[in-house]
Order: sequence, then C-alpha cells, then structure tokens
Amino acid sequence: MERTFVMVKPDGVQRGLVGEIISRLERKGLKIVAIKMLKIPMEMAEKHYEEHKNKPFFSSLISYITSGPVVAMVVEGKNAVKVVRKLVGATNPAEAEPGTIRGDFGLDLGRNVVHASDSITSADREIRLFFKDDEILNYERDLDAWVYEK
Ligand code: RTP
Ligand code: MG
Repeated sequence: MERTFVMVKPDGVQRGLVGEIISRLERKGLKIVAIKMLKIPMEMAEKHYEEHKNKPFFSSLISYITSGPVVAMVVEGKNAVKVVRKLVGATNPAEAEPGTIRGDFGLDLGRNVVHASDSITSADREIRLFFKDDEILNYERDLDAWVYEK
C-alpha cells in the first residue's frame, strides 16, 4: 500500500470544503491514516514548498499557505499518489477537469483549494514534515475486501 500527503489549503477551509474533500477521498476507497488541523508556521511552509524557492510566485505561495488553518492528512491506498493527484486535478483550476476537486471548486491558480504530493519521494518527505511516526495509525477496515480484489 502506498501513502500520500493531502492538505486542504486555507481557502478550502474558509470555504467549508473540508468535509467535501475528505468525503471524495473516502468514497474513492482511500483510507485516512493521519489527520490534523494546523496553521503552518512560515519556516515549515518554506520547507514544504522548497522546490519552488526560486520561482517568482514563491512569496505569494508562502503567504497563501500560511494565511489560515489547513487540514493535513496522510492517505493510504493502492497507487495513492497517482490516484489522489487525479482526484485533485490540474494545478490551475481553470484547466482542471470537471469532476476533479480543483475543477469543481476553483477558478484561480493561486487559490486551488488542495495540495497533494506529486511523487512517492515527495509524499515521504511531506508526511515526515507534517506528522510524527506515532500520529500515523495502522488499522484494518473490514470493507477493504470490497475495495480491493486482494
Ligand atoms: P501543490 O504542490 O500545491 O499540490 O500544487 P501542484 O503540485 O499542482 O503545483 P506546483 O507546481 O507544485 O505548484 C505549487 C503551488 O504554487 C502555486 N503556483 N502558482 N503563479 C504561478 O505560476 C503558480 N504556479 C504554481 C499553486 O497554488 C500551486 O498549487
Ligand atoms: Mg506540487
């Protein structure tokens, strides 16, 4: 099983989309193994988005992501990284397909509602940045026999 990091960004929290987003992940069959609400400190935000450090949008991205509480999650499932990126949709909500989270709930690149890791390597790094080992739970769901063939 693969794990990925998902975060409802400050605009998603302010707009009351936390439940909707979690619901879409659950309905897909994915399992939430860690979850918390926090206001991201500046240094942590800079670490999270360090790959964009030299981009012109970096400072506005950091202001955005630290502008209010976020809901951070670790989500587990078969091919979780790829599957969640598909559920989230293209980076620019104006180009994201209807049916995706960004395609259904956003209009602006700088207010795209949700974050999801783009690779297994990023997922590992981001999960470690946001969660301690003992905040991530291992548990079985009886319904998994109806989600996975085996
Ligand atoms: P995220 O990391 O937030 O899940 O988004 P992503 O992988 O789809 O896109 P990424 O390239 O990692 O960009 C991170 C966030 O930076 C903002 N952005 N602004 N003004 C711009 O050209 C620009 N490009 C990206 C977006 O909020 C994007 O989610
Ligand atoms: Mg990204």
